[in-house]
Amino acid sequence: MRLGVIGAGQFSADFLPLWRAHPLVEEVVVADRHPERREEFAARFGVATLPDADALLGSEVDAVAIFAQRHLHGPLAIAALEAGKHVYSAVPMGVTAEEIARIVELAGTTGLTYMMGETCHYYPGAMFCREQQRLGTFGDFVYAESQYVHDMRHGFYAAYQHSGGSDWRRVAGFPPMLYSTHTVAPVLAATGARVTSVSCLGVEDRDGDGVFGEDANLWSNPYSNQVALHRLSNGGVHRVVEFRRAGLRRPGTHIGLFLGTAATYEFAFSRHYLHRSDPDGEMHVEDVSALLNAPELEAARGRPGFDDDVGNARIEGGIASPILARRELPRELGGIPTTHRGTPPYLVDDFARAVATGALPPHHAWDAARATLPGLASHESALRGGEAVTVPDHGDPPAGSVLLESSGGEG
Ligand SMILES: NC(=O)c1ccc[n+]([C@@H]2O[C@H](COP(=O)([O-])OP(=O)(O)OC[C@H]3O[C@@H](n4cnc5c(N)ncnc54)[C@H](O)[C@@H]3O)[C@@H](O)[C@H]2O)c1
Repeated sequence: MRLGVIGAGQFSADFLPLWRAHPLVEEVVVADRHPERREEFAARFGVATLPDADALLGSEVDAVAIFAQRHLHGPLAIAALEAGKHVYSAVPMGVTAEEIARIVELAGTTGLTYMMGETCHYYPGAMFCREQQRLGTFGDFVYAESQYVHDMRHGFYAAYQHSGGSDWRRVAGFPPMLYSTHTVAPVLAATGARVTSVSCLGVEDRDGDGVFGEDANLWSNPYSNQVALHRLSNGGVHRVVEFRRAGLRRPGTHIGLFLGTAATYEFAFSRHYLHRSDPDGEMHVEDVSALLNAPELEAARGRPGFDDDVGNARIEGGIASPILARRELPRELGGIPTTHRGTPPYLVDDFARAVATGALPPHHAWDAARATLPGLASHESALRGGEAVTVPDHGDPPAGSVLLESSGGEG
């Protein structure tokens, strides 16, 4: 396929060498409104460029990959599907229920591929819970806790200032729950359930940097931290934490607890455990850290300063955990430095193979909607003081749809 990338920003740069190298991607063109970013990408990655998304959508590309700022994805995905292009989108899918409904509708009527690129789908705890749930280890699902902690001081000021100009606070005050796919998606993928209703509380920001507060941002959002309880369609409960002001860096994005009637997965700072119960209640606890942590983290354990290195995210950046690395990738993607625990090559491969085969990738439109809409409902609930809010559902993919198979036996 010929691929058009929308956005020559910070995250897009992590994916560019991977798109260029993938054997199913023939050509890559990058669009950005900033001429200096286009020039930089052309020089750095050897790609042709166009001035904006409209020019790209009017061009001959077969597919687009959206890496624009987080609140712009929905309208860009709709325009791309309407223009007959397959769509890869960074998270979130959209920020309004209408955008999301329209993307699902277009994915159904056009048959084009839509994929929301959720890095956390391939985070080790998420993969482990999916795998063990499929094996029946947990028994009946009861409860999960997951969190995405990303304090403004840890890269977020610079990230929003990069494209926000003097108005950067208007977008930096993004309601945390509108970006809750990192927490919601892995639990739904493991359980196969959907969220039916939510109740959420917000913590009003007290920092005084002008990012959060009434009229401070595009959403008039006062909350920097939000906590939601989700009722799942399987009868279980999921507690979701989205924090942007927290004296905590790592663990940042993960499932902390995934509890069933027969077993529990637990992640505690740098260790992953599987607790299993005998029928008589005797517990057997297995440390599964070596399977779930990057090898460099395990190798550093016990060294002076290990805890601070983990706590400051100085270990594990772009290295895949063994549970992920056992899935094969096209050899052309091997050895390309990457980020986000080594997940981007797997997302690129999923999308390229989905477009080539017509099979549905992970977080196709219907699943992406189920992973994104609970966050919108949660923010609404927080604004109403925690009132329960029903989450709309767009159902399953059309009958006869085939899911993409992954080469490592893990989907
Ligand atoms: N783990 C993850 O899944 C993860 C991690 C980081 C970022 N992200 C997401 O990736 C997206 C990009 O983040 P970023 O930090 O790279 O943003 P950024 O501000 O660095 O880059 C966005 C770029 O898109 C360009 N752009 C916007 N609208 C455009 C249009 N209509 N035509 C052409 N170019 C356009 C901007 O000019 C800018 O250069 C965000 O949605 C972010 O949430 C996801």
